[in-house]
Amino acid sequence: MSPAVGLGPFDMIVFGATGDLAMRKIMPALFCREAAGALPHTGELVGVGRGDISTSAYRDRVEAACRRHAPDGIFDDDVWRRFARRIEYVPVNATDSASYGALAGILAGREDRARAFYLATPPSLFGGICHAVREAGLLTDRSRVVLEKPLGHDLQSARRINAEVGAVFDEDQIYRIDHYLGKETVQNLMVLRFGNSLFEPLWSHEFIDHVQITAAETVGLEGRSSYYDGAGALRDMVQNHLLQLLCLVAMEAPVSLDADAVRDEKLKVLKALHSTGPAEMKTNAVRGQYVAGAISGVLVPGYRDENDSVESNTETFVALKAEVRNWRWAGVPFYLRTGKRMPVRCSEIVIQFRDVPHLIFPPEAGEVAANRLVIRLQPDEGIKFWMVNKVPGPGGLQLRTAPLNLSFAEAFDTRSPEA
Ligand code: BG6
Repeated sequence: MSPAVGLGPFDMIVFGATGDLAMRKIMPALFCREAAGALPHTGELVGVGRGDISTSAYRDRVEAACRRHAPDGIFDDDVWRRFARRIEYVPVNATDSASYGALAGILAGREDRARAFYLATPPSLFGGICHAVREAGLLTDRSRVVLEKPLGHDLQSARRINAEVGAVFDEDQIYRIDHYLGKETVQNLMVLRFGNSLFEPLWSHEFIDHVQITAAETVGLEGRSSYYDGAGALRDMVQNHLLQLLCLVAMEAPVSLDADAVRDEKLKVLKALHSTGPAEMKTNAVRGQYVAGAISGVLVPGYRDENDSVESNTETFVALKAEVRNWRWAGVPFYLRTGKRMPVRCSEIVIQFRDVPHLIFPPEAGEVAANRLVIRLQPDEGIKFWMVNKVPGPGGLQLRTAPLNLSFAEAFDTRSPEA
């Protein structure tokens, strides 16, 4: 892992500091940055939550979370002691600025540092927290706010949240996070496409038959039913992670890596997505919910057993056929799939090329399977390019499909860090 470039002194204020997101993802991720030596000497983490607990009790919780959720082999007692010194906790009623006194006290005199308000809370609180932060006088020129999806549950609520946050922060201070974009293999998609001349001439309806984008998880609800049941797989995975992957596969080359340039190209893809009406939905989409069963021989409960509501129809599986209706992709289906409690954990993108136009080999030689580029996002990050070959040796012409196999772990002798 390489140190962050130019990361100066900062305060990061995590709202929802005792919640699932903070404990499972944010704190372990920051701990990994500490282990990599990537955090500056002056950088403080202030956990904010409703619970009336002490800083020391909060540190104990974070330690347990880092031990459990940081990647294997990363946890180290010395690193933990360094990391723990950065952490403070203050009880605050997040939407009530009158309760912000202790937080304001901690931040006083540190106005020159970068200040990030990380809202690891339900989106219904985003507007109220932003408002309270301003009322409490905590906004500085170098403040930013970080939001996690889903931003609302429909277009109207998303617009309302954006308007509320936008009333306090300028657009360039607002960071809408999609952690999939922090995955090394996802970042590599742009490099694969635009750093190699090989694929781009083939990257269209002329040579590509279809694209499959899959994010299969073996985990279930993991105690998140109060959030998940109102979201479902469509809002939890498809509208954010899977659509980002679709954009990265389908977009035109941006003029530079500048954030706005990349965003503009992605937006064009989203605008070209064919919106499916109710009739097409019947043939182009599948929703499902997991029931009790066994994964790798281990019995797991069904969704309604894990969930608070036994009547829930929330989907935990979605499969969709999407179309990007533009010059490059006309007629190429993009199959998006995601589900919890699937038999294996696997996120990957499959680019299925077309069959060769004319077959010269006899049928007894074996199948001439069309080429397939498989970009494995996790686990076992890597790229396989499946090609038809002659099986070496005597005995007549025998064809077999075999991959060119690029394992990132082997090729770069490194393990990909968590997003
Ligand atoms: C999150 C979803 O955004 O992504 C979770 O809320 C999901 O439900 C997770 O499990 C998957 O991300 P990762 O990085 O663990 O594959």
